[in-house]
Order: sequence, then structure tokens, then C-alpha cells
Amino acid sequence: MDEAHSDRHLGRQAGNALSSLPDMRREESASEPEVSFFSHDLGAAELAALAQVLRGPILTTGETVERFEQLFAAYLGRRHCVGLTSCTGALHLSLTALGIGPGDEVITTPMTFIATATAIEQAGATPVFVDVEDHTGNMDPGVIEEALTARTRAIMPVHLYGQMCDMHRLRDVAAAHGLKIVEDAAHCVEGRREGYGPAQHGDSACFSFYATKSLTSGEGGAMVTDDDALAQRVRLLRQHGMNKTAASRHKEGYAHWDMPIFGWKYNMDNVQAALLLPQMERVEQKLAMRQALAAEYRAALSGISQVAMPQTLPGVRHAEHLFTIGVAPERRDELLGHLKERRIAAMVNYRAIHLLEYYQRKFRLPRGSFPVAERIGDSTISLPLYPSMPVEHVHVVARAIADFFAESAA
Ligand SMILES: Cc1ncc(COP(=O)(O)O)c(C=O)c1O
Repeated sequence: MDEAHSDRHLGRQAGNALSSLPDMRREESASEPEVSFFSHDLGAAELAALAQVLRGPILTTGETVERFEQLFAAYLGRRHCVGLTSCTGALHLSLTALGIGPGDEVITTPMTFIATATAIEQAGATPVFVDVEDHTGNMDPGVIEEALTARTRAIMPVHLYGQMCDMHRLRDVAAAHGLKIVEDAAHCVEGRREGYGPAQHGDSACFSFYATKSLTSGEGGAMVTDDDALAQRVRLLRQHGMNKTAASRHKEGYAHWDMPIFGWKYNMDNVQAALLLPQMERVEQKLAMRQALAAEYRAALSGISQVAMPQTLPGVRHAEHLFTIGVAPERRDELLGHLKERRIAAMVNYRAIHLLEYYQRKFRLPRGSFPVAERIGDSTISLPLYPSMPVEHVHVVARAIADFFAESAA
């Protein structure tokens, strides 16, 4: 028994454990490093790309964005990428460009970030939730037909944590009922399933380059599609519906422009693209580093019976965007508090969103409406994971979790 443990043991025996325990815990945790949830790996290459943009005349959407769009589409093996300011914007514009709006319903999942559902409302349509698969947390293709109405126009699945949905089954349901598919691929740049990737079976896939995403420009997003007309329409929609841009003005000089359609202001700029371009060269390497850390977590946590490990299905290449574990719902928030006390930044992705205040007011879907999503939402914890995370931090986290369950069993 080491000194800290024997001291605590003595403290309990002496009857002063309650008063001294918190201080001792602080001392104990002070010897462990603070563990961040995420840290970006942008550095010299991004600074150089940024400097190149600053030396040129165009800070807004221009050739740097075009280069990123080409690289990103090529990485996914698709025809088009349209650079945008967020995934939320990409979801919104995909629906709008597909002609989906007021009076229409879009089937989606309650086990997601709110942006999936709010984008549907931003397009003027109504989100309709269905439950998720027990083993993946992804939309359950088997329950979609129960949610169909005469107004259903599209399905918006989410490749949760980086594991792709069963797009073959989703595509079959969509085809049988004439529905569009807009994929929320915010977690899934690198994820593949049985050889296919995002935007291959859906009409479009939408990506996030938010501050904690696997590729990041602080804020940013993209829509990817094989559909020429859809890409063209999203290009118009991203910039007020204007048919000329600052880049075209720079190249060709001023020419009168028109506004064929109503649009928004969601265009990715050259500064964001400059941050993203060098990361495209490291995307597979970054994935390999996350895969190694995820494997380390699995090994380090395997002996803790109270922890349910995330499942990756056969035939899936998981993007390992988030590493989530499951614990008993009645212990989840206590464990979060314990990790916080140990200066470990854990999170919850996600509490089922139909239970959030706004959706409760709007749809009044009681607890029990989507039992699987609710169970995941009540029991999940996301552990720190990012490519340059020191492997030792995985063990700091695992020790903290092991201690939590050992202490409560004692
Ligand atoms: C599943 C999911 N969808 C959508 C979004 C929204 O992305 P953005 O912040 O780029 O709009 C996020 C971002 O956290 C997300 O995790």
C-alpha cells in the first residue's frame, strides 16, 4: 500500500475521514496531470498557409477555398464539395436546395447535437424523431416507416461518434418512399462502412470543422455531394443567392450580378480554408493516432466491469471522433463530478435532445418516447481524445475511473 492510500485508510479508522478526504483527494490528484478533452494540432504548416492567404488580395471565398473543396471531395471520392461556415449551415442549405421547407417533415434522431434538428427548423421544416440502435446509437432503419406521414420528405441520419449508419438500409427505406437523405457527417470525415463513405448513398453529407472536430478551422463546414445541380444550388444559397462573387470580380473585373434566388451568408472564407488545407495531408495519420489511443482506452478500461465499452460493428472503419463509455445512469453524473475533481475534462454527447427544454415545449414528447436514445443519453460519457493526446493521459483517465468504482465498492 502506498503512502497516500495508507494515510487515507488511517484517516477513516480515526473517524476523521469525512473532513479530511476532500483535501487528500486534491493532494492525490495534484500528482496526476490535468487532462484536456481536446487540443488542436495546428502549427507551422497552418501558419504558412495563412501567411500565403494574407499576402494575397482575397480573404473571403477564393482560390484557397476552391483548393480545399477539391481536396476534400477527392478524399471522399465524391464529385463536389461546397465550403461553408458550419455543418449547421450545410444541413440547412442541403434541405433548402432539395426543395424541403415549410409543411415538410424530416425524420431524424434524438441522439445527436441539437444542430441536426435545429437545421431542419431553420429550413422551415419539422423534425420528427425516431429511436436509435442499441449497439451504435445510430438511427434505427427498422423504425423509420412507423414515423412516415404524407408530409415526410427526407431522412437526416447522424454518423454518431464516427461510426457510419447502415446506409444500405436507409437508402432502401428512402427509395421505397421517395425520400431524400441528408447525412449529418459532423463526426465522420474518415468513417467508412462496407467500402462506402459519407455522401455515397445520401443526396448530400454535411461536415463540421468546429473547434473540437477532427479537422478544424475554429468554425467551418462543408456539404459534399455527387449531384451537380444540388452543388450548384448550394453555391448560390451560401452567398445571398448572388451569381457573382468577390473572387470572380477580382478575376474578371466588375460585372453586373443578379440574384436568381433568395439565399443566406454561409460561405467559407480563404482564412478558414488555409487552416484546413495542411490538415488534409495529415488526415489519415491523425486517424491512426486516435485509433491507437482508442485501443489503449479499451485495454486500460477492460478490467472495469461497470464500464460498457463502445461497439464498432464488423465492416466499419470508425472515425474515432469521440470515445464514449456507458455507465449505470444513477452513477453517471457522480462519475463526471469525480473526473472533474481529478481535473479530467470529460463531456456528455449527448443527452437525448427531445428532452431538452425547447423540444419539450414544442413537441411534449414524454420520457419513454425513445427509450434507447434516452438510455444512452443517461449513461454516456465522452472521454478525452485527440491525436496528440499523451498516451499516459489515457491511463490517468482509466485510473480515475477505476478508483471511482473501487472507492464506491469499498
Ligand atoms: C452531430 C453534429 N451535428 C452538427 C454539428 C454542428 O456543427 P457546426 O458547429 O459546424 O455547425 C455538430 C457540432 O458539434 C455535431 O456534433
